[in-house]
Amino acid sequence: MSDAIGYELIDDIAVLAADNPPVNALGQAVRQGLVDGIARAEREGAKAILIYGKGRTFFAGADIREFGKPPLEPGLPEVCDRIEAATIPVVVALHGTALGGGLEVALGAHYRIAVPSARVGLPEVHLGILPGAGGTQRLPRLVGVDSALDLITSGRHVKAGAAKQIGLIDRIEEGEPREIGLAYARELVAEGAPRRAVSEMPNPQGADFDTVYEQTLAASRGQISPATAVRAVQAACELPFEQGMKRERELFMELMNSDQREGLIHAFFAERAVARLPELDGVAPRSVKAIGVIGGGTMGAGIATSALLSGLTVTLVEMSDDAAQAAKGRIGNNLAGALKRGKINQEKHDALLNEALTVTTSYDDLARADLVIEAVFEDMDVKKQVFAKLDAACKPGAVLATNTSYLDVNEIAASTSRPADVIGLHFFSPAHVMKLLEIVVADKTAPEVTATGFALGKAMGKVSVRAGVCDGFIGNRILSTYRTAADHMVLDGATPYQIDAALEKFGFAMGPFAVADLAGLDIGWAVRKRKRAEGLPEGARDSTYADKLCEDGHFGQKTGKGYYDYADGPRKRKPNAEVMPLIEAERKEQGITRRDFSDDEIVRRYMAAMVNEAAKVVGEGIARRPLDVDVTLLYGYGFPRYRGGPMKWADMQGLEGLLEDIRTWGKEDPVFWQPAPLLEKLVSEGRNFEDLNKEASA
Ligand code: 3HC
Ligand code: NAI
Repeated sequence: MSDAIGYELIDDIAVLAADNPPVNALGQAVRQGLVDGIARAEREGAKAILIYGKGRTFFAGADIREFGKPPLEPGLPEVCDRIEAATIPVVVALHGTALGGGLEVALGAHYRIAVPSARVGLPEVHLGILPGAGGTQRLPRLVGVDSALDLITSGRHVKAGAAKQIGLIDRIEEGEPREIGLAYARELVAEGAPRRAVSEMPNPQGADFDTVYEQTLAASRGQISPATAVRAVQAACELPFEQGMKRERELFMELMNSDQREGLIHAFFAERAVARLPELDGVAPRSVKAIGVIGGGTMGAGIATSALLSGLTVTLVEMSDDAAQAAKGRIGNNLAGALKRGKINQEKHDALLNEALTVTTSYDDLARADLVIEAVFEDMDVKKQVFAKLDAACKPGAVLATNTSYLDVNEIAASTSRPADVIGLHFFSPAHVMKLLEIVVADKTAPEVTATGFALGKAMGKVSVRAGVCDGFIGNRILSTYRTAADHMVLDGATPYQIDAALEKFGFAMGPFAVADLAGLDIGWAVRKRKRAEGLPEGARDSTYADKLCEDGHFGQKTGKGYYDYADGPRKRKPNAEVMPLIEAERKEQGITRRDFSDDEIVRRYMAAMVNEAAKVVGEGIARRPLDVDVTLLYGYGFPRYRGGPMKWADMQGLEGLLEDIRTWGKEDPVFWQPAPLLEKLVSEGRNFEDLNKEASA
């Protein structure tokens, strides 16, 4: 028998204990162990079987690392069928997370008991597939079509209590899974309880599946797995179990072989790989319990909220008492949102706002802070003044961080007497919602300060990516470039609206012009002014139509108008009538004859600009690996997750064609379209970005 499943016979109950850390994924050895364990229990005359997981969880699902590789026997559907076909009752005891194939094993069993903290779900759609071991056939039979569609198409996890309410779990008990499972099995044996096979339950009542399919497709922004799963549930209503299983398998394989599955699995592993950095091996972070935040505007208030919600105490310094109270008001609003959504209760809300948070105008109040994050105006002189005060006020060993979007962290660090303690912690707006954190490591930043940044990110529930110092770090630097490509297309004949529509169809949450309106057009304006002052490269194209919008006081959503007009609310944007005349005037001024752009060309140029700049960012070591860029764009810039990120997308397109496009466009505009040396190198060596990811993790 395999070691992954232990076997014991206790009072005529065969106990199968899964032991495959860290999450008891259902790899080949586990599957074989389950099949062997059932057979042995029957052979040895056991009266019931208990399956549970050792360690932190029941089975968290199929082993995702096996996806895309040749299948290994026994397959998970056969394992679930074998469990169900056992001649004696099978009980599962759930704790931790019974997800995907883990829940499907539980559905194959005859009785299900769980500890109250257990969570269950079928998250397969988030990996680009659907439940493929009978989940789409058994769950609707057990809990009805509405609940099954909800769980399967959303992929959400539910707590044991909610699962019991819909009939998915039979019983909830406090205790160790092994003990509550054994007690339940003994009770069932004593009662002479029968086997209960879910597959033998009648077909569930159907629904209007065509409508559900269309609605699900429309809600998933181009991702196909949730809608495909609807068709599998339909089969559970319309076909006998065996045939339904065949249909599930066909649809499962269709998705398993799709690019979307590849993109989503890449995203899953990339998101977990970003924090694994050789430079941090064995480096202990400093302890952080109390933090300081300087500036309580949009970002400072968001950062403070996020820190409070993760259990840190916060001292926020503002310029005046009024500004300090305004900052507290903003934090109060954010916390009220968390209260409304049920993330915290009233008591917790009051404690966070009135006890864990202090607002002040005195830097002396930062004496006990373990880490301080500066979020004042984006101006080097102001930042240097603030860091001089921090240098004087903070205790030795305190980490001094800046939330700057573009400014040089080395220069900020050099203005203090302790550059090793200085780091960039670049949060995204709104900081209590957005999960991305760029950890900007300056030349002199000490490794344990970097480790402290990662530990803080983890404590705050962020996905942290290491970045080096350059103008805009990873994300904003790449954004500046693809936004410039969009501006060039506008000058040459596309409209901002056509560009947004083409990119939203590609899968971005929002096109670049809608994003700019949301962020505030003043931000881009300030960057353009700074870059012009520093001097644009010889022969670089420039455009000023966006500046004219700002000069007229249109800063996007916050002023009601930008590229779009928001008179009917932020969700009902319509083109701002003032924009096209400004663009046409500029085309005339620059002597440009407009031409048409197809949506396909828009996407190709935009994506090529993004990937090319990203390859420069990786080539220069600003991002350690291509996967760091992917995660940055996925979590901070609305890149469609099912495409895996720009580097994964580029690999799937083929780097050669992409480089060819860049070289072709370079003939018209050699300043903008300069191929990244790394891209040229990879193409000449017949390698791709994934090869670099693998080398880095080897
Ligand atoms: N297969 C292989 N490895 C897995 C895995 C899986 N299903 N789930 C997690 N892991 C690995 C992670 O990659 C990570 O490895 P690392 O330490 O080398 O980076 C390690 O287990 C721990 O994972 P997390 O860091 O994510 O740990 P958390 O405690 O934060 O979260 C979890 C635990 C909630 C179980 C989370 O890992 C998770 O959501 N896992 C995926 C669950 C899932 O999607 N299951 C469905 C799989 S598809 C399926 O079952 C198909 C079937 O229908 C046929
Ligand atoms: P903001 O203008 O909303 O807030 C700045 C706050 O800092 C104001 O409340 C101001 O009173 C305060 N302040 C200024 N000087 C101060 C000083 N010397 N001491 C104490 N408080 C002071 O600006 P926002 O948008 O919050 O940006 C702050 C920083 O975060 C900037 O560096 C910006 O580039 C960066 N950032 C902004 C993002 C955004 O989307 N708004 C995203 C990521 C980073």
